[in-house]
Amino acid sequence: MAFDFDAFFRARPVILAPMEDVTDAVFRRVCRRRGATLCVTEFVNADGLIAGHDEAADKVALEADDAPTAIQIYGADPERLAQAAEIASRAEPAFVDLNCGCWVPKIARSGAGAGWLGEPEAMIAMAKLVVSRVSHPVTVKTRIGTGREGTEGMPIVDLARRLEDAGVRAITIHCRTAKKGHEGKADWSWARKARHAVSIPVIVNGDIRSADDAARALRETGCAGVMIGRRAIEHPWVFRECRRQLDGGGIHPIPTHEERVALATEHLLALRDARGERAAVRAMRGLYAGYLAGVPDATTVLRRLPSITSLPEVLEVLSGILA
Ligand SMILES: Cc1cc2nc3c(=O)[nH]c(=O)nc-3n(C[C@H](O)[C@H](O)[C@H](O)COP(=O)(O)O)c2cc1C
Repeated sequence: MAFDFDAFFRARPVILAPMEDVTDAVFRRVCRRRGATLCVTEFVNADGLIAGHDEAADKVALEADDAPTAIQIYGADPERLAQAAEIASRAEPAFVDLNCGCWVPKIARSGAGAGWLGEPEAMIAMAKLVVSRVSHPVTVKTRIGTGREGTEGMPIVDLARRLEDAGVRAITIHCRTAKKGHEGKADWSWARKARHAVSIPVIVNGDIRSADDAARALRETGCAGVMIGRRAIEHPWVFRECRRQLDGGGIHPIPTHEERVALATEHLLALRDARGERAAVRAMRGLYAGYLAGVPDATTVLRRLPSITSLPEVLEVLSGILA
């Protein structure tokens, strides 16, 4: 079924943020099952997509149940981004998102990611070109500025207006400057200012860690939706908790110990199916602390798990937790 962009934003979506090496198909399923309204792939390199590299192709491959999912692409060259957007759109994503916010120096210095924020004219022309080349909605995820502007008058407000004029259908604002990386507190007031300047949906992002945060971010900014990144990695239940509260259903009960162990097991087995046993065991190591938080005897288990290399042994430890 075709994705109804306008209806989607009327429902105040709670969106899983794009995160490199995190938001693969397996993690998207984990979050969707726990209430994420839409998921975004990690950023995919435009040149890799055009060259047909397996890694890039895998990242944009969407299974039938992996919907709605948006594909995010990045690059420094407008024509190549347009070509990459054409390739990405063949996977029938909900929309194609342009990364204009990655602060990592190697990326931003090349002109990609937050590099576009330093060249607003070029960024608008690039967005216009990409919009003209795909029939899917094109969105932009960016930051409030580069950080060289000082704290007064961030460029995001004018930029949002111009991106709307360029045909961009929604904007996600990570409410920090590029210079800040992940430091300091996200300043949602810039999302509010930008949102008042445009009629397209604005999604507020940065430091949303709970249902209360999501409700407050929407109330304070009037934005159309929220996007959650890091909190989802430790607590993917955050989506259902946000959903329940935003839909007026009160506070969602916290996950039970059984749900916590079940999630660790579900994620491990899904990773095994996708990438094999060794990779699954390795990839899960960083997730147990969040998933098993508060489970009785978790500290002992968390100490043991990193040294275990065999998947059956991990499963045995997990199944023993609540026995
Ligand atoms: C591990 C990691 C990888 C990320 N990768 C991407 C990415 O591929 N594309 C992107 O636009 N943002 C990326 N981000 C930024 C997040 O999407 C988000 O904007 C940021 O973490 C702030 O939101 P949060 O406070 O909810 O985490 C990444 C963040 C993290 C922590």
